[in-house]
Amino acid sequence: MSDRLTEVSRYFIPPDLKQAKRRGKEEVQVLQFEAIPEDMREIGRGKHYLIKTYGCQMNVHDSETIAGILQSMGYSPTDREEDADVILLNTCAVRENAEDKVFGELGRLKPLKVERPGLILGVCGCMSQEEAVIRRILQQHQYVDLIFGTHNIHRLPFLLKEALFSKEMVVEVWSKEGDIVENLPKARQDGLKAWVNIMYGCDKFCTYCIVPYTRGKERSRRPEDVLAEVRELARKGYREVTLLGQNVNAYGKDFTDRTYTFAHLLDDVRKIGIPRVRFTTSHPRDFDDHLIEVLAKGGNLVEHIHLPVQSGSSEVLKRMARKYNREQYLELVRKIREAIPHVSLTTDIIVGFPGETEEQFEETLSLVREVEYDSAFTFIYSPREGTPAARMEDNVPYEVKKERLLRLNRVQDEISRRKNEALRGQVVEVLVEGESKKNPEILSGRTRTNKLVNFRGPKSLIGQFVQVRISEPLTYTLKGEWVETESVAGAGM
Ligand code: 5AD
Ligand code: SF4
Repeated sequence: MSDRLTEVSRYFIPPDLKQAKRRGKEEVQVLQFEAIPEDMREIGRGKHYLIKTYGCQMNVHDSETIAGILQSMGYSPTDREEDADVILLNTCAVRENAEDKVFGELGRLKPLKVERPGLILGVCGCMSQEEAVIRRILQQHQYVDLIFGTHNIHRLPFLLKEALFSKEMVVEVWSKEGDIVENLPKARQDGLKAWVNIMYGCDKFCTYCIVPYTRGKERSRRPEDVLAEVRELARKGYREVTLLGQNVNAYGKDFTDRTYTFAHLLDDVRKIGIPRVRFTTSHPRDFDDHLIEVLAKGGNLVEHIHLPVQSGSSEVLKRMARKYNREQYLELVRKIREAIPHVSLTTDIIVGFPGETEEQFEETLSLVREVEYDSAFTFIYSPREGTPAARMEDNVPYEVKKERLLRLNRVQDEISRRKNEALRGQVVEVLVEGESKKNPEILSGRTRTNKLVNFRGPKSLIGQFVQVRISEPLTYTLKGEWVETESVAGAGM
């Protein structure tokens, strides 16, 4: 057995990144989440929980599962820390600054915990899969009651019960390859847009990335389970689904009993007819022609692809173990653009990878100019303990990395602005999500290409598809005017 159980601190075995790297031949188990035991269904009656989520959409959706479990135990949500009986930090390990934020937050919450010893303070998510993090919490934040890993979410009822009745810190983190747990309760944030996991884990092992260690091996949910979940969402009136995986293009590669890839899945999800279907994240290496063919059908498959490139230099890509080079990436972009002419492409880029030269960085700038992304998430490389890149010699001073990030952002902002400017005067379809965060007088929603649009209109439009004329394009958002027509039920299906 490659599983490693880390139990209550008395029997504490730290999680182990080396162990987490193993990829064995065992079949993935599909487990069913069992109903919450009778004696735990009322534990949270009259009590409240608050979950703070850091990082990617996978975490956002895990928080919806955690919320679903807590609600099945009788807990209700609250936004106010002082009303919360359970506070959980669902953490991200992808960069150091994400981790710093969590430790800062733990320090900030200490007085609340001291004042109300009955409060359960927990840490979960990717950071809890790291040995160094657990050690630091055990040493410096002993007031934390509960730590559980990404493979242990379904165990929450038992762990929470243990934390409520035990005086010791409850730690359960499995450094394992991972199973699939079906039937988990989910408290989705709104009735409009839903995340749906199609697979878990990652086997790509890009040299900078901690995810394959914290989330286990690549394992695909069975198509019948994914499709049943999407059908249920359609029945409930959801307007948009986003299929989620660390590398959705690898979907189905682990099936031994059938040939069924991401292209097949997307085609089947499309037919269910939810008005908008998205997916994230794509890996360029596994993005095949069949998928492009399916995407070209358009309709409810929106014309937006998030296609992380990470670097424009083949040399750097090689050291990142991305398994494609600059030319192959550009060829993929060309094929996608040919098949889906109005496609919006977005990306992730890391600057200052160990040993990145000025010339190599300039290759990233030139690739960005060539592809013309609608927008990009850009990061300074952050060494992650246990990953191969953390052991590479890094001769790029931090000041240089910061300066490269600024230069890259300047180039990308200029392109984003130009791309948005091209929408001036055009009428676009917007799914209205709610009031704008900054001003309740303003409504906000997203285009098919996932651009944020703010405009004035009656609150009754929330949840609907409307037409908006873009009057003021900005770099990151669009301002527009509602075009009063009959609302559209959905795109093209
Ligand atoms: N340092 C900086 N950025 C990283 N990412 C992943 N790992 C690291 C790291 N160690 C970025 C990649 C990825 C995004 C989610 O986070 O660009 O696509
Ligand atoms: Fe990390 Fe690479 Fe997997 Fe993405 S594909 S999660 S960057 S290892």
